Amino acid sequence: MRNIDGKAVAAKVLDSVAQEVSALKEQGVTPGLAVVIVGDDPASKVYVGSKVKKCEELGIYSRKIALPAETSEAELRTLISDLNNDDAISGILVQSPLPGDLRKIEDDIVEGIDPAKDVDGFHPINVAKLVMGDDTGFVPCTPAGCIELLKSEGVELSGKRAVVVGRSMIVGKPLAALLLNESCTVTIAHSRTTDINAVCSEADILLVGVGVPELIKKDAVKRGAYVIDVGINRVDDPSKKKGYRLTGDVDYKDVFENCEAITPVPGGVGPMTIALLMQNTVKAAKLQNA
Ligand code: GUN
Repeated sequence: MRNIDGKAVAAKVLDSVAQEVSALKEQGVTPGLAVVIVGDDPASKVYVGSKVKKCEELGIYSRKIALPAETSEAELRTLISDLNNDDAISGILVQSPLPGDLRKIEDDIVEGIDPAKDVDGFHPINVAKLVMGDDTGFVPCTPAGCIELLKSEGVELSGKRAVVVGRSMIVGKPLAALLLNESCTVTIAHSRTTDINAVCSEADILLVGVGVPELIKKDAVKRGAYVIDVGINRVDDPSKKKGYRLTGDVDYKDVFENCEAITPVPGGVGPMTIALLMQNTVKAAKLQNA
């Protein structure tokens, strides 16, 4: 019955990141983020633009490397290796999805990133640390942002039933691991789950990241549940200037009355992803200069 204001929570995270950046600069350390984008997917371009802009606002050095869709695997590997060895770069991010055939080797490319610079938390070493509950690694930004939003609402996570819809390496799997580390009872539902509404209806906390516009309706949401909608989908809307509108994986209007609190799209999880990326970049700079 109320919104969870991701912009406001992200602003608080960014305030503390800005202070950390100042403190590091006083010690002669400037955190730096390299953002690699291959091809010209419009949504990816927007995300990368926002990441670079946020770095500038915070005084974090940023380097955007935009490559054509025809870039070879060897070129990409050489670039990553150069960035691993570049002292001005604390964090490296390769925007997903990669285009064409590169998509098939995305995992291999990520494995080439120095785990100490893997601010996305996608490298197997960081995935393992997350599952082990070892906080010296990097946690993927979007899942970490979801947890921060719930904590900002004062939700006591321990013992709660959490249902994660989606099993991607960017959202579903790391989110489930984080919730388990917070002592939730965790269920992962996905496209092959039978009677997904019945499974979701058990949730005290329902978190959805599948990329299907407005998949979750009110009959999948228990009264009083917290709903975290990770989806950012573009759906055609001729009445809008851009020709599309953004909508989540949850049917917000349908669900709003029944739930305790819900993240809107846009303005929910999205701003948190960037804030946590900035936080991870500062963490990387600190670890490399400890
Ligand atoms: N594409 C969608 N979300 C993300 C993210 O968090 N990191 C990267 N690298 N690519 C993405």
